[in-house]
Amino acid sequence: MEAYDRFELLINDRVVKTPVAIASMAGIVDAAYVLERAAHVGTAFIGGYSIDDLTLDASRRMAAGGRKEFVYDDPLKALEKEIDALKESDVVTGINLRGSTPAAYAEVAAAFEDRVVYEIDAHCRQPPMIEAGCGEYLLHHPVDLVAIVRALKAEGVTVSVKVRAGIAGNDAGLARAVWKAGADILHVDLMDFGHNKVRQIRNASPMMLIANNSINTFDKAMDAFSHGADLVSLARKSDPWTLAGLDAAISRAAEEGGWYNAPKQICRGGDIRGLAFCCMPVKACPLIPTLDKLGISRNEYLTLKQEAVKGTPLEDGRSTCFGSLAWCCKISSPCMFRNMTLESRGLSAREYMRCKHRLSEKIMNRIFDESKTVDESC
Ligand SMILES: Cc1cc2nc3c(=O)[nH]c(=O)nc-3n(C[C@H](O)[C@H](O)[C@H](O)COP(=O)(O)O)c2cc1C
Ligand code: SF4
Ligand code: SF4
Repeated sequence: MEAYDRFELLINDRVVKTPVAIASMAGIVDAAYVLERAAHVGTAFIGGYSIDDLTLDASRRMAAGGRKEFVYDDPLKALEKEIDALKESDVVTGINLRGSTPAAYAEVAAAFEDRVVYEIDAHCRQPPMIEAGCGEYLLHHPVDLVAIVRALKAEGVTVSVKVRAGIAGNDAGLARAVWKAGADILHVDLMDFGHNKVRQIRNASPMMLIANNSINTFDKAMDAFSHGADLVSLARKSDPWTLAGLDAAISRAAEEGGWYNAPKQICRGGDIRGLAFCCMPVKACPLIPTLDKLGISRNEYLTLKQEAVKGTPLEDGRSTCFGSLAWCCKISSPCMFRNMTLESRGLSAREYMRCKHRLSEKIMNRIFDESKTVDESC
């Protein structure tokens, strides 16, 4: 419960104790690798594992060419051994898979059901994998990727899609397509795109978002979190020391701040969760074009926030600019009037941010569950 209270993070119906993940490295990241680092990570994607004849043949050719690969004859047997080894661990396990047909993925999901998260490897750029119809091939053939997501979801399991940013024609469009097909998690190798890409993808769907690529320091992790990431993952630098340092620093910040991945305000480059900190729409500022892109009128926005805070500690705030804490800024923006209101209500800064978190969830539900009219360029 303590870990849940800190991050309020669930994957595959299990508590994720820290938003630090291990990203897969074929031939390297297996159960033993994860168990050595289990104290410092909340989730781990073992693999990638090839799961049918075509991709196993690709793995063999890559191994013959000098790359590290997991090579075996019976994929289900090999996977079972790894999944069993992680059974007692509190690390939420994902398996990164390379298959050449939707049926191949469905067969693995039928075998292991809800014991793990199923991650589709749409990331690998090695020619043998691309020739086998997986990895980066799927970023150029989104219809095939969507078919795999649907095949896995038909088995009732949790699905993650691992992608490399900048390969598909439109990353935000791809995110929306896999979300609409039922994917639960988007795991994005950001390459050199940085936090603008995180924000663009966060604004395109409500899926859980894992940011990846060289996110090895606390500052880089917080930068990803404040633009929309739910977790960060590490592959090459997933040594126990780096993971332990990140976990400790992020946990400390979460305990102090109350909302570990709170967005920046929209006028400071934040993603649309930042609407929770926005004022009433009374001036020319980035709120107005943001609402336009979302297809939400000013009146709808007013009503949405007023309704969302009814009966919560954010409803009051007579001495604040707009008469309610619903419109008040992030705690990091100094404000005597807001702080006096919080004090008079006995609300700590941490609790205030928690309430803003709840408000942002209600706003995101409205944006993605009802209108679904997000402009993909935002
Ligand atoms: C040796 C190696 C093998 C990898 N194998 C896989 C894989 O099988 N599946 C996958 O989705 N990503 C794979 N990746 C990509 C990593 O998961 C990660 O996206 C990438 O290394 C960038 O993150 P990092 O900067 O934390 O290393 C591999 C990366 C490396 C270095
Ligand atoms: S409404 Fe306020 S917080 Fe939101 S973008 Fe405008 S100035 Fe910034
Ligand atoms: S009272 Fe302070 S925190 Fe609230 S909207 Fe005004 S400036 Fe922002």
